[in-house]
Amino acid sequence: MNEDLDKRLESRPTLVAVGGGKGGVGKSVFSILLGQWLARLEKRCVIVDLDLSCANLHTLLGIKDPRMTVKDLISKRVSSLEEIALSTSTENLRVICGASEVLSVANPVFVQKVKLVRSLSSLETDFVILDLGAGTSFNTLDFFLASEKQIVVTTVEPTAIQNAYVFLRNSVFRRLSQLSRRNETLRKLVQQTMNPENSLNLRSVKDLLEVISDLGGERRAAPIRSELARIRPGIVVNKVRDVRELGTASILRHVANKYLLLEVDELGGVAFDRQIEKMVSEMEPLTNCREGGAYESVFEIASKLTAKVSSPRTADVEHSQIGLAS
Ligand SMILES: Nc1ncnc2c1ncn2[C@@H]1O[C@H](COP(=O)(O)OP(=O)(O)O)[C@@H](O)[C@H]1O
Ligand SMILES: [Mg+2]
Repeated sequence: MNEDLDKRLESRPTLVAVGGGKGGVGKSVFSILLGQWLARLEKRCVIVDLDLSCANLHTLLGIKDPRMTVKDLISKRVSSLEEIALSTSTENLRVICGASEVLSVANPVFVQKVKLVRSLSSLETDFVILDLGAGTSFNTLDFFLASEKQIVVTTVEPTAIQNAYVFLRNSVFRRLSQLSRRNETLRKLVQQTMNPENSLNLRSVKDLLEVISDLGGERRAAPIRSELARIRPGIVVNKVRDVRELGTASILRHVANKYLLLEVDELGGVAFDRQIEKMVSEMEPLTNCREGGAYESVFEIASKLTAKVSSPRTADVEHSQIGLAS
């Protein structure tokens, strides 16, 4: 690898995706508090509103009518993401506001998404936080999978935990579908596994890998295992009122490991904090939040993220390496 390329790769920002199936669990609030801490730790940071159905990050930042949004980029009024990254009252922290109506109509196809991820990667910054929307649309999953750091936010509510699991499950199957696109046998097996009532009695990704190994040997299964190992989500439990609630992350970790073969990290909890609710309802910018339970608890998570990251993105990996004889 030449020195120039080395330098360029080193100066690329780390993409941190913040997802989780359920709306209202605190993805956007967490994204802002994380950005605040990263900025305070002297990392340059840009938060991007990628909620394609309901872009409202700007509201949490106290911006009623953003001067520029991704709409300006799509309509080619401006030519680069850098121009629509607005400063906030926090030094080192910028925000790119979303425009749900445009993006959902445009419904970016895979190539456009890859382009967008590339431009996000060329932003002059250390971290880009992708604040994703609720649900598990392909758009959301693709942005999640394309990031080096993948965070799933949940609360202790059973419905939030279920949604977080479904989010992880759908991410794994999205990746498997991408990997099996050019291989008929593999594609059929993946589809069977996705159907809970499949005739092959495949109950989990582990079962799927066993069948692949039986049919094609470990030579075929190993590359898929290593691709799945690149999905390494971290769980954040938000609105925690009691430390025992952190057990939620362990449950998710065990289930995801058992059924999806995923290694999940427990990143920590964020305290339930009335001040956050009050600030949101009074439309006070959350960048003014520099103390309190929620803010303090994000410090540890931000510190973990600033530890050096170097793994390549899943999107960069050559898909054709994986194949079963069809
Ligand atoms: N740690 C917290 N403590 C108290 N309330 C919170 C906390 N995090 C989020 N909230 C509340 O939850 C609401 C939804 O959060 P938001 O970040 O918009 O969710 P999401 O982006 O997942 O849809 C916020 O308006 C806020 O009132
Ligand atoms: Mg949100």
